[in-house]
Amino acid sequence: MVMRDTLAGYGLVSRLAHWLMAIAIFAMFGLGLWMVDLDYYSPYYNSAPALHKSVGILLLIALVLRFGWRTANVKPDDGDLGPFERVASRIVHWGFYPLLLALMVSGYLISTADGRPIEVFGWFSVPSPGENKGLEDTAGAVHAYLAYLTIALAAVHAVGAFKHHLIDRKNTLTRMWSGPPSI
Ligand code: HEM
Ligand code: HEM
Repeated sequence: MVMRDTLAGYGLVSRLAHWLMAIAIFAMFGLGLWMVDLDYYSPYYNSAPALHKSVGILLLIALVLRFGWRTANVKPDDGDLGPFERVASRIVHWGFYPLLLALMVSGYLISTADGRPIEVFGWFSVPSPGENKGLEDTAGAVHAYLAYLTIALAAVHAVGAFKHHLIDRKNTLTRMWSGPPSI
């Protein structure tokens, strides 16, 4: 089992991080949209946002670790991609990192604008930078906008992956799924 990325493909760590985070991000999008419409009498009124914030902080930590891993590994070879696809895939792949960071930081700012910390599943707490009236609304608008942008980019990215797989018949999708040969 290859842990690190090689020129031929992504190792286990990158593949697990990619698919687990992709699932979590889509789930967080659904959870976020659902929870903002809950009324005060819903049994999930407190627990849904608490779950959203806790998973969000874990995702923020995972993102930083994943970025470290990405930069500490070789980038698998792009193969015979055309110049447009090469540049577009670079922009989308690297673009995800600052976009997700901004999404998570804006979520942190909404949650801590009232001066209260975030309790992550009761395991540890992340302090607030201090009470900041009005920040909640601005950060909330930015957060919603960035969440839609992330999902739109992920959709374009997935269409690209399926195009390489089904039309160009390249191993782009399979190597993100099953990894490089362990020679
Ligand atoms: C993968 C990352 C995330 C995604 C995809 C995501 C997605 C969303 C979405 C779609 C909404 C609903 C926006 C609306 O319609 O107004 C939302 C709301 C919210 N998110 Fe996130 N979120 C993420 C991370 C975080 C993080 C890291 C935190 C905090 C630590 C957070 C805190 C919140 C809060 C407090 C709201 C409610 C805002 C309000 O009441 O208007 N989110 N999120
Ligand atoms: C929110 C969801 C997603 C995010 C944030 C995301 C992010 C990324 C990033 C950053 C990379 C570059 C490698 C890395 O830095 O780890 C990558 C590669 C890849 N992703 Fe995604 N991805 C998502 C969803 C998907 C989906 C739904 C598919 C396909 C159905 C997909 C297919 C791929 C493939 C095939 C590669 C490898 C491309 C190559 O070999 O150069 N991703 N993804």
